[in-house]
Amino acid sequence: MNKTKSRKILLLPGDGIGPEVVREVKKIIEWFNKNKSLDFSFEEELIGGASIDANKIPITDEVFYKSLESDAVILGACGGPKWDNLEFSKRPERALLKLRKELKLFANLRPAICFKQLVDSSSLKPEIVSGLDIMIVRELTGGIYFGEPRGIEPIENNERRGINTHSYTTGEIQRIARVAFDLAKKRKNKVTSCEKSNVMEAGVLWREEVQALKDKEYKKVELNHMLADNCAMQLLRNPKQFDIILADNLFGDMLSDEAAMLTGSLGLLPSASLGLRDKKGKIRSLYEPVHGSAPDIAGKNVANPIATILSLSMALRYSLDLPKEADLLDASVQTVLDDGLRTKDIMSVGKKEVTTTDMGDAIISKLK
Ligand code: IPM
Ligand code: MG
Repeated sequence: MNKTKSRKILLLPGDGIGPEVVREVKKIIEWFNKNKSLDFSFEEELIGGASIDANKIPITDEVFYKSLESDAVILGACGGPKWDNLEFSKRPERALLKLRKELKLFANLRPAICFKQLVDSSSLKPEIVSGLDIMIVRELTGGIYFGEPRGIEPIENNERRGINTHSYTTGEIQRIARVAFDLAKKRKNKVTSCEKSNVMEAGVLWREEVQALKDKEYKKVELNHMLADNCAMQLLRNPKQFDIILADNLFGDMLSDEAAMLTGSLGLLPSASLGLRDKKGKIRSLYEPVHGSAPDIAGKNVANPIATILSLSMALRYSLDLPKEADLLDASVQTVLDDGLRTKDIMSVGKKEVTTTDMGDAIISKLK
């Protein structure tokens, strides 16, 4: 039986710890192919600094078109000190931003779940984080990341000015708010929308449009508005008050790093970036861990592969229509944590410290 009709997964390991964590994902895909009669075809390509070194640009057209044609793209990480001095438009991160923008992946889902086995790894008290289950819905193709005008320009007195533009349209706000409201219905039915409407016009518009959409189409969903700085504070004070946090590109970036640490480690958080469903029902998507390339620990086989493995699980769920396989993978991660295996970032007294490779192998052994 060929359940997957040879669906295409593109692996983009990238830089730093990217190749190490994506290697574990590759092993899992191979395992599914062999043992679950699945038939994923997968290819691996360069992105970010690795692509700059080989091709002088952060992503080639060939890789870009492969991403367009894939059923799911799984990315490790882009960037590192080696490329920090490059001109902005040539930096490794541009590859990631290009993929997000041109694949129109406007909805970034970042679940922050505190696993019961890891409550002690969080810097917050166990009673504050145990049972935590938040979904951050971050707008990903608009706002200050992409707004024009942008740049650095010379001004009088030998000074320079750096410019970025933050703007959102009604349509951009509505489509991301819709994602948050639809997801809320499958969760605790509660959305907290964040902006800075006390200082920014774009924040005022954000608040008004989100409220208007709720009043019109999502009457039964509970909606609260919160200033983004207050949300940052509330995440530390009482994170369990949140179900879904809806935020723009920049606030969503910051709040998701913060939420990640509540769960114990940035090494645990997966993410899915999704576009609209096309006429054939296909949804463009990119899956990546929330963490970056972590150059300080790259090449040492100590990185935590769980965020990337859980990103594969999100791909199985959202793009490949294999929820049972996603459940199986999630459960295997849980069992390995139950067994006390820990990578360095989540290590605690009495547990067994393992390498990246060991963690991947252990998760695979539980799939059986
Ligand atoms: C993230 C990262 C990226 C971002 C960087 C690497 C461009 O921090 O995915 O959260 O700012 O979006
Ligand atoms: Mg970030």
